Amino acid sequence: MMEIRKITCIGAGYVGGPTMSVIAQKNPNITVTVVDLNQSRINAWNDNDLSNLPVYEPGLDDVVAEARGRNLFFSTDVNKAIDEADMIFISVNTPTKTYGKGKGQAADLKYIELCARQIASVAKSDKIVVEKSTLPVRTAEALKSILDNTGNGVNFHILSNPEFLAEGTAITDLHNPDRVLIGGEDAEAIEALVSVYEAWVPKDRILTTNLWSSELAKLVANAFLAQRVSSINAISELCEVTGANVNEVSRAIGQDSRIGSKFLKASVGFGGSCFQKDILNLVYIARSYNLKEVADYWEQVIILNDHQKTRFAEKIIQTMYNTVNGKKIAFLGWAFKKDTNDTRESAAIYVADHLLDEEANIVVYDPKVSAEQIYKDLDYLGIRSPEENRRLLKVVNDPFEALNDAHAIAILTEWEEFKEYDWKLIKDRMKRPSFVFDGRCLLDSSLMESLNFAYYTIGSNVK
Ligand code: UDX
Ligand code: ADP
Repeated sequence: MMEIRKITCIGAGYVGGPTMSVIAQKNPNITVTVVDLNQSRINAWNDNDLSNLPVYEPGLDDVVAEARGRNLFFSTDVNKAIDEADMIFISVNTPTKTYGKGKGQAADLKYIELCARQIASVAKSDKIVVEKSTLPVRTAEALKSILDNTGNGVNFHILSNPEFLAEGTAITDLHNPDRVLIGGEDAEAIEALVSVYEAWVPKDRILTTNLWSSELAKLVANAFLAQRVSSINAISELCEVTGANVNEVSRAIGQDSRIGSKFLKASVGFGGSCFQKDILNLVYIARSYNLKEVADYWEQVIILNDHQKTRFAEKIIQTMYNTVNGKKIAFLGWAFKKDTNDTRESAAIYVADHLLDEEANIVVYDPKVSAEQIYKDLDYLGIRSPEENRRLLKVVNDPFEALNDAHAIAILTEWEEFKEYDWKLIKDRMKRPSFVFDGRCLLDSSLMESLNFAYYTIGSNVK
């Protein structure tokens, strides 16, 4: 059996960083090196002050503290790490293409291809190459072709090992996964990776499949989860007009063991780096095989999600007498969900954009997202100049700076601390009527009503 002594991971992001930290924590005999081209990211991973790690994730600091410097290393020397490794994880980003064929849908594989070419040119001994990033089905074929055609005659075994961790719970998900999925062709290579996980995952939770099933399963898992959110969000709109309450509907259907209770929380819309990208990918693949109905079916999950974000912004405008021009609107939360500093595809970005079109004055408070990131997200949309974005939207470090004197509060992320605020005090300091638009069904609606807020939440018709 192949013995794995050195692992390298290319890409020190939200997936590569936490995953490798846990692999190193649980396998003290394996040297794990995480490399990235981004020097400042690597510096942050090496920072002595663990509150400066580039990824915020509960429990990550303890894992890094235990393993870093022992058998876990972060570096920018990609070639050295490739050369030394027995096994190389590819964990680079695969954003949706913004140009050319498949623009707006297909995954952009340029970073993956660059990695493959670099591995091929550097490797002087046999390597197991593991796809960790979410990839379109059959990417392994392209990977293998590049490795075999540009390599130095060494053998490459390709495995697919998609990541199912959710941000905000990455460490518990990694410590206690529902399953680990490993797809591949070579039995020995598969066994080598199984043994890495067996250090802490019970064997019956380690599934092995062929490469294509593993690649596709990752896209499908995310599509199914996203579909549940879009389904309940579709029902939230129906609840608002019929007098039903979406939380009650969720509870009622979630108790049905065939349906289950998870991922039925109505919201302002799902975000994150995976759901939208993976569904677009699935849609693109289906279309490329001429499966029109299949593509349309999954595309609807995205359409509904876009609708939910727009609908929330329009609800704010319409309720505030059809004008938000010059009004101070406090945003509580910018991250795509609680317990992460990741903002990719966050609903907050799109809701803000809609309100900025109407010249609202937005003041954002998020416990973990930096002002720099918030402006980057807005500038990236390319709708307004950077100066215009900074004129209309401010970012503050103290929530009360955002809430004082506000015409309205919009809750975009379900951070626990928002529930703990002194809402009576907030009410006293706001303008009247004091509008609160709760995009996460986070607050207690009876409390909000008793304090005389004009309180609107997703999926129920509170006056
Ligand atoms: C997801 C998958 O869960 C994970 O397995 C995969 O590896 C990566 O993609 P992540 O994007 O980190 O993880 O977060 P997740 O918890 O799935 O939430 C995605 C989005 O859906 C968030 O914006 C969240 O707020 C929203 N959501 C989730 C809801 O609006 N309602 C729900 O009931 C659940
Ligand atoms: P994910 O959520 O998939 O982890 P991130 O964007 O957080 O995505 O992380 C991907 C990381 O991969 C980034 O830090 C980026 O700098 C790094 N990266 C991309 N291409 C390469 C490459 N060819 N070599 C090394 N690192 C790379």
